[in-house]
Amino acid sequence: MKQLQARQEHQFFASLYRAAPALAVTWWAMLIVRSVLPALLAVATGSLIGALDNGEPITGSLVFVGITFIVFSMIVPLHQVVGLNLGSRLSAWLSDRLMVATTAPPGMGHLERPELTHDLTMARDFDLGIMGPPLHISMDFIASGLGRLFGGLVAAAILFNYSWWAPLVLAGGWLSTHWMLRESAVWRDRNTDEVRSAQRHAEYAYRLAVDAPAAKEIRLFGLAPWVIDRFVTVRTTLFDLQRNATRLRERSVAGALVVVLAANVAVFWSLGNDAANGQLSLAAVIVYMSVAAGTFTIAFGGWSWALDGAAAPVAAVLRLESSMAEAGALSGTASATAVIRRPDSVAREIRFHDLSFGYESSSRPVLENFDLTIPAGTSLAIVGQNGAGKTTLAKLLCRLYDPQHGSVEVDGVDLRDLDVAEWRSTVTAVFQDFVRYELSLRDNVAPSGAPDEEILAALLEAGADQLADLDTVLAKGYFGGIDLSGGQWQRIALARALCAVRLGAGVVLLDEPTAQLDVRGESEIFERILGATRGCTTILISHRFSTVRLADRICVLEHGKVVELGTHDELIAASGRYRTMFDLQASRFIELDEEGDEVVYEKL
Ligand SMILES: Nc1ncnc2c1ncn2[C@@H]1O[C@H](COP(=O)(O)OP(=O)(O)OP(=O)(O)O)[C@@H](O)[C@H]1O
Ligand SMILES: [Mg+2]
Repeated sequence: MKQLQARQEHQFFASLYRAAPALAVTWWAMLIVRSVLPALLAVATGSLIGALDNGEPITGSLVFVGITFIVFSMIVPLHQVVGLNLGSRLSAWLSDRLMVATTAPPGMGHLERPELTHDLTMARDFDLGIMGPPLHISMDFIASGLGRLFGGLVAAAILFNYSWWAPLVLAGGWLSTHWMLRESAVWRDRNTDEVRSAQRHAEYAYRLAVDAPAAKEIRLFGLAPWVIDRFVTVRTTLFDLQRNATRLRERSVAGALVVVLAANVAVFWSLGNDAANGQLSLAAVIVYMSVAAGTFTIAFGGWSWALDGAAAPVAAVLRLESSMAEAGALSGTASATAVIRRPDSVAREIRFHDLSFGYESSSRPVLENFDLTIPAGTSLAIVGQNGAGKTTLAKLLCRLYDPQHGSVEVDGVDLRDLDVAEWRSTVTAVFQDFVRYELSLRDNVAPSGAPDEEILAALLEAGADQLADLDTVLAKGYFGGIDLSGGQWQRIALARALCAVRLGAGVVLLDEPTAQLDVRGESEIFERILGATRGCTTILISHRFSTVRLADRICVLEHGKVVELGTHDELIAASGRYRTMFDLQASRFIELDEEGDEVVYEKL
């Protein structure tokens, strides 16, 4: 029973019922009627011929044939309509569940685990028609397959009236074809690593070709032939794998033919013999011959490739529900009882205490025995090479991950003891890879709502007040939508963070907030940001020293550790790493004038 329940076909039918119980019951009832009707029509025809043969009144038989025939003609299209609806309902049900599975976990490890990628792609894209027909179309293939199998078995069952062995021989013969041709019935190898990886490469090449983001580089670097060639090659590999797996095995086909032929010859020879000897009436001969012939549908029915394809995403979504909950969980969420509100100020003291952290996919720790305290209401700039762990610190502070060792403390309380949602409501950020929402300017600045005055004030602070009116959608492809430049988008992201500060956030994280701004805009906007976030605890991550030097304190991060910490003046005086980096960047702004003297044209 457990094994049956674990099968994806079982999960598929159980989910159909859970998604739309009444429709699912109707679909099954119609499937049964659909399966019984061909045999019933044979019996009705037999009763009409019997009545004619015996000179009896034919009204009853005619009505029987008439009704059976009308229902027989109507049931398939009606069943298709019910199947279409049922398939759509299942799709919607699966999409809802996937949305919950991906958004419910408080952490984000579940979106980064490579072993969940395949299930996630399948669960996300199953209805796009990329991997197979959408569910509402598959339902018809599934219904035909099952209808043929059940119909053949019902036809065979009627033969029990004739003899006990005929239905066993015939149904057994046709059923055996499933077993003999099992290797070729469904592409069983489609879940191997080789196939998955080929699918992933094919999909990626396809997206590179058809989506806008890569369009510039594909043209500039002349990559179009390469992308097309790559897509064709991988797709050909996939088709070859599929063809090899589904190729009919000649020996099996010959064997199946022999078995089926023998079974049919035995039954039809016996029927013919009995008819010739007068042991069977004309009506009986016609009914038995019809149903005996009708048993062939057993061979073409059953679990079809469509069921296999439709059941796979169902199983994927159900698997993801548990695996994502586990992978995206944070430790200690349940016991979160501490209160973070401090009556006097919204700013917090933040302390990274003996903290070690490494991503699950990598054996190398990013931060090791990391210690750093940021007093409440002060700003700290973090500088360091690419990959030093700056963004990782920001993510730990938002509690998107938990450290393996040590802690992040807020006003002396371990983040793990705080309610995640409550903590996050006091933090705001401009992430390095901030999101460009395809929404109105208003929703971009305040996705969860804010008074227009606050939104406009935040836009002004971020230097984004002239970009568009609040209702303009910031994406082409929408009515009246507009495109923004990289720097303009960055101002919008800054406005989003500043609006949150206006609404009460006391901890501000700025990860490369001015990387795309022009030099003039950068200093001007950053001054304003400092003004707007005065009183907050601010962490600024930047490679731009003109911005960094404005922070109260600066920390240099190297190989997961703090190597220098102090004010700009202290670190310059110390002549260490900070000084070297600062001088290196400053020298770029020194030019020679006509007389050959050095001129600092943009003082840092
Ligand atoms: N989601 C992730 N999964 C696995 N490893 C990651 C992940 N994010 C970052 N890393 C790794 O962690 C290290 C630190 O990355 P992080 O993004 O914190 O660097 P950074 O200091 O912000 O660099 P940059 O200046 O380039 O923004 C890098 O070696 C990176 O490869
Ligand atoms: Mg970074």
